[in-house]
Amino acid sequence: MYCYSALEHKLIDIPTITISPDDIAKGCNNQGFVGKSAVVFVWSVIPYRTQWRYGSLSHKMIAQDSGHLCQNLYLASTSIGTGTCAIRADDQRAMGKLLDLDGEEEFVIYVAPVGK
Ligand SMILES: Cc1cc2nc3c(=O)[nH]c(=O)nc-3n(C[C@H](O)[C@H](O)[C@H](O)COP(=O)(O)O)c2cc1C
Repeated sequence: MYCYSALEHKLIDIPTITISPDDIAKGCNNQGFVGKSAVVFVWSVIPYRTQWRYGSLSHKMIAQDSGHLCQNLYLASTSIGTGTCAIRADDQRAMGKLLDLDGEEEFVIYVAPVGK
């Protein structure tokens, strides 16, 4: 498990969290292909980081932001000859547990496996 640091533009290893292919598929409501992919991108959101500035507009902005991010993954994925599939039918609580998120201040908003 790695966390992407946007400020440093690098991946940070999180050795305390290990997620098996089965766990990630279960967290996505048993969508088995997620566990068979080469890598799974999971986006979480900390709403406060948007709310302090945009107030009640935040809901839209967070949804739009995550859509843009995932769309870029579709483009990047296609450009290297792999496929991806936006996943929203995940079990938000189960995914939060896997990533050790509290589910209130921070929760999973989008998932996308990438592979052949
Ligand atoms: C918000 C959103 C949520 C989605 N959730 C799932 C999902 O949980 N499982 C799945 O197999 N596909 C999911 N998809 C992918 C769509 O089923 C579809 O494959 C994708 O939009 C690309 O369509 P196309 O490959 O037919 O062009 C989702 C797509 C979007 C935009």
